[in-house]
Amino acid sequence: MALNLDSIGKKLGPVSKDYNWKDVVLYALGVGAGFSDLDYCYEKNLKVIPTFSIAAIFDFLSHYAANANINLAGILHGEQDLIFHQPIPVEGTLTTKGQITRIYDKGEKRGALVVGESDTWHSNGKKLFTSVMTLFSRFDGGFGGENAPKEIFEFPDRKPDFEIEESPSLDQPLLYRLSGDVFALHVDSEFAEMAGFEKPIMHGLCTYGYSCRALMNSLTPGEPEKVRRLKCRFSRPLYPGDPIKIQIWKTDDHKAVWKTINSKTGEEVITNGIFEFGDIPKKEIRFDDQVAVITGAGGGLGKVYALELAKRGAKVVVNDLGGSRDGSGGGSSTPAEKVVDEINALGGEAIANYDNVATAEGGENIIKSAVDAFGKVDILINNAGILRDKSFIKMEPENWKAVLDVHLNGAYHVSRPAFKVMRENGFGRIVMTTSAAGLYGNFGQTNYSSAKMGLVGLMNTLKLEGKKYNIKVNTVAPIAASRLTEDVLPPELFDKMKPEFVSPLVLFLCSKECEETGNVYNAGMGFFNRAAVVTGTGTTIGDGENPPDIEDIIDNFDTIASLKNGKVYFELNEQVGDAMNAFNAPAPAEGAADDAKKLSSVAAIFDAMPEAFNADAAKDTDVVFQYKITGPGGGDWYCIIKDGTCEINTGITEKPTCTLIMADSDFVDMINGVLPAMQAYTSGKLKIEGDIMKSQLIEKLFKLK
Ligand code: NAI
Repeated sequence: MALNLDSIGKKLGPVSKDYNWKDVVLYALGVGAGFSDLDYCYEKNLKVIPTFSIAAIFDFLSHYAANANINLAGILHGEQDLIFHQPIPVEGTLTTKGQITRIYDKGEKRGALVVGESDTWHSNGKKLFTSVMTLFSRFDGGFGGENAPKEIFEFPDRKPDFEIEESPSLDQPLLYRLSGDVFALHVDSEFAEMAGFEKPIMHGLCTYGYSCRALMNSLTPGEPEKVRRLKCRFSRPLYPGDPIKIQIWKTDDHKAVWKTINSKTGEEVITNGIFEFGDIPKKEIRFDDQVAVITGAGGGLGKVYALELAKRGAKVVVNDLGGSRDGSGGGSSTPAEKVVDEINALGGEAIANYDNVATAEGGENIIKSAVDAFGKVDILINNAGILRDKSFIKMEPENWKAVLDVHLNGAYHVSRPAFKVMRENGFGRIVMTTSAAGLYGNFGQTNYSSAKMGLVGLMNTLKLEGKKYNIKVNTVAPIAASRLTEDVLPPELFDKMKPEFVSPLVLFLCSKECEETGNVYNAGMGFFNRAAVVTGTGTTIGDGENPPDIEDIIDNFDTIASLKNGKVYFELNEQVGDAMNAFNAPAPAEGAADDAKKLSSVAAIFDAMPEAFNADAAKDTDVVFQYKITGPGGGDWYCIIKDGTCEINTGITEKPTCTLIMADSDFVDMINGVLPAMQAYTSGKLKIEGDIMKSQLIEKLFKLK
């Protein structure tokens, strides 16, 4: 039976496998973990030994073997390389896809090598690991194929930095095989003899797991998530009961080489080992081959956006009129030129443009200069700005108009020709620059506030018109030290308010990775949040046939004005639809809408806590609960209960009675009764620090459900 060389490149899988904490613990026991490294063996705060991954997808090996038509009597695991992209969760479903990438011929009677490569995803959507597995097919060599390239591998010429001794038991394979590799070679004496061994041998991957534990204990103690790669060659069989020694040489801050030796015979059973470790590298957001136009980029925020985009590969048009802070007088080419020089000095690509955004002609020219120089426009940041602050009575038409011309009309003038180019290319990212003055109001800035809020309106509709062309339009409300704010902000805050604290969010909004559109974000001093127009649930008044009286409006005003359970509409139709259907919609039972919504987020739960507080149950109680809720919907809250009163605050308090730590979704589940508190605690989903007994009061003190 010959190897099937046509199997190379054929897609294999997907193959899915469910697993839970018991599988994780069984594996850990199979590779020698126990009370000495309980984190891997106890469901409370369970951690996963990274090499569990290869045991969990072991069945995939049979796809390689069957497709390549390997003679199973002669199959051995030759090499294994695991590259970890994300830590392995303690439960879930793994889905693996792969292919045979190469088949090598070592020669007649010397065997063949079949190399299979696979990627495995978790049911949380993340790619967890890549496996490169080399199967040594002892009886399939000599078909006239190419031999594998020689690998040059050298261990340092010094004593190992770590040497860990282990003693797998005589029965180790019986335990390890329960994790997936039930091959008879590791359990059946007759089969082992037939395959040329004295008796059943250890699974190579079991020794690999022992080695992984030794490497972690030496180099990433308690942090399995820091294991990035584990590669090795299985060089000799190991019999159960033979002691082993894992020798480790740390070669740099993130890498070690290693081998595993049979301590009885001195033979290397695993060699050419590579262990890489460290934090998961962040995926770098790049703008290579993208063209960005930034208006008002000669200084302040715009300059930082231009530099950061250029550093990440974008070709940049640095527009700046170079005028005064209030836009009066002439312009200057110097600010834009200086920024271009800086970009060039960093090895980036940029051109300067000095057009005035306040005219339609200026807007056209800015975009034309981008297209002439770089062929297209992918990104536009409408950033140019001036200020002419005056209280409303003193706000003469020329000051009103000048500010609207630069901010609102300016964005119109530049966005329109840019949008045309983006639409033709089927891609675009536009960022408008609003201000807290527009979103919330600021004394003396009626002109500026109006212009800035006008930009939000422009975004709201442009996002709809750009939707089918992959043009995303978002808005930032920055807070940063610049010449616009130098006389408004206290000087001691200037350093904390560097534009560099704003630019990461703006760059994200400009990136291909950004799928958001139509949103407004505040950004400054390292703090970011979203601002939105929230619409209350409202009420119908009267019968919908006859207009209500003013008195009816007054009677219902609290409900009309309430933003409780409010929502954010994406477009006009949604709001009009709600208004049109208001009389047809079944009237919600009193409080039903509140109840349904109230507990669907962590923030809503804390909002609801004062109402759910049972003052009677708290009469003689004096406790402070700190909540640390992790995840995107989480945050820190603390709750002070004293003399029958309850106070809920955000943030961290100094001396809590106990601290409850939990993931956001688990917390919502627990409060809603989906996850029983005891189970949350015993499963490690809820961690409690401090006085655990006092934490049990919570259920009595709050009746949230
Ligand atoms: P900045 O004054 O340093 O930058 C604005 C730039 O726009 C200047 O370089 C100016 O020469 C240029 N410019 C003005 N009129 C122009 C025109 N007609 N055509 C072309 N370029 C023109 O100020 P900063 O703070 O960097 O402001 C950038 C944007 O951020 C502005 O839109 C501003 O309103 C907005 N903003 C800034 C805040 C902050 O805290 N710095 C707060 C809220 C909004």
